[in-house]
Amino acid sequence: MTEQTPVNTATAAKAPTLPDAQTVTEVKHWTDRLFSFRVTRPASLRFRSGEFVMIGLMGDPHPETGKQKPLLRAYSIASPAWDEELEFYSIKVQDGPLTSKLQHIKVGDEIILRPKPVGTLVHDALLPGKRIWFFSTGTGFAPFASLLREPQTYEDYDEVIITHTCRDVAELEYSRKLIEDLQSDELMQELIGAENLAKIRYYPTTTREQSPKMGRITTLLQDGTVFKDLGIDGISADTDRAMVCGSMGLNTDIKEIMEGFGLEEGANSDPKHYVVEKAFVG
Ligand code: A2P
Repeated sequence: MTEQTPVNTATAAKAPTLPDAQTVTEVKHWTDRLFSFRVTRPASLRFRSGEFVMIGLMGDPHPETGKQKPLLRAYSIASPAWDEELEFYSIKVQDGPLTSKLQHIKVGDEIILRPKPVGTLVHDALLPGKRIWFFSTGTGFAPFASLLREPQTYEDYDEVIITHTCRDVAELEYSRKLIEDLQSDELMQELIGAENLAKIRYYPTTTREQSPKMGRITTLLQDGTVFKDLGIDGISADTDRAMVCGSMGLNTDIKEIMEGFGLEEGANSDPKHYVVEKAFVG
């Protein structure tokens, strides 16, 4: 057991204790395909809002040897760097090796968390600009749940546009509620400032169920609907920066659209105009 493993009677009573174990403190099921959960944070874990870590559970025992191996996947941390706990937002894949089990976790259970945060969706990977676009589909909203609660986002930009595209309205509930709570919470008003929180422009869209705004964000960017709706001239390398997190298809398509606007892809070691990360599933 390491220093990072909180010991209490509840966890000590369970055997075997997982390596890099953290305890689940909250679980919320949003739809039959989506859930979020919070876990204890290792005291030594430092990360930048927008990064991801490997988390998981012990796999089934090997049929012959009985040995168990950890089953780990990359998950964006959905909570901000200042939060005492860690939050994650996950899909439930019924035959997914990890999420078929992870979806059943309960408060007090343990998960494995490797404390090595990495990722490109960080402010350091972008050059200074006036407006930041966060483009997400499905659980790709997770890193933006972190960055929207990060004070630096508002120090760096005058306008913060978050787009979230899902199949149906119920799948937008996590982002809708998070932004609503963010803008009405007293602690957030104090930490981030009401005038900063007013910089957020939330642009939710659905593709398979009727809602006030329908269509893939890629289509809505290409035909100019987004700009008309938001009263913006367009996207330019002089003023606009973007972070993208979604399916491979979304990432590839948005990349092409951003390049078409003259934006170049940045990295931690070479900050530029936009950055991309895959929404991890499994
Ligand atoms: P669509 O319903 O047209 O496939 P998923 O639930 O499969 O992860 O998808 C989440 C959302 O991302 C869906 O609304 C889906 O739209 C949308 N989407 C999938 N691929 C792309 C893409 N290449 N560009 C933009 N949106 C996409």
